[in-house]
Amino acid sequence: MALREAVLWLHVLCGVTWVGTSAAFVLAASSMAVETEEWKEFALRAAPRINLINFVAAAIIPLSGIGNLFGAAMTRKGPFPPAFVGILSLKVAIYFVMAILLSAAVGAERRMREAAISAERLKPAAQRLTRLYGAIAGCGVVALGLGLWLAGT
Ligand code: HEM
Repeated sequence: MALREAVLWLHVLCGVTWVGTSAAFVLAASSMAVETEEWKEFALRAAPRINLINFVAAAIIPLSGIGNLFGAAMTRKGPFPPAFVGILSLKVAIYFVMAILLSAAVGAERRMREAAISAERLKPAAQRLTRLYGAIAGCGVVALGLGLWLAGT
């Protein structure tokens, strides 16, 4: 597999992982009764792992994206068409929104943990975390779609 393909696959894998893990948390959390022991255990165990995985994905995406850009520049005869530049700019903007939502998810996970330790109600912090993961998944699906569109321009 050429380096260019490997970088493209790594890029897509990170995008799919970021979207998939966030969506999986939302689906799992909404399938359990709120504030039951099972729900608390799931939220406290899954959230820090999901945040860590997505931090790694969020770090690799711009680096592999720049690699994609170089690869695309080398295989094209002329300058990038305006549609390519437009779609890419939108993807980069969505990436920054997803990164901001991810750092907010880290804060929400910390508050959920503090609430668990002090036996406060977990619900507000966990609901905020679920909403943040839902927003990340929504943005990510759009970025994945734009990415596939970009590959075709
Ligand atoms: C800083 C942010 C990003 C940059 C600079 C970037 C850059 C790129 C570039 C240049 C391509 C086109 C490669 C080509 O035409 O061969 C691409 C494709 C793609 N990107 Fe991104 N991207 C970014 C963020 C994202 C995000 C956040 C996602 C998804 C969550 C994503 C998913 C994809 C997908 C699915 C493709 C299509 C791959 C293919 O099938 O060829 N990208 N990206």
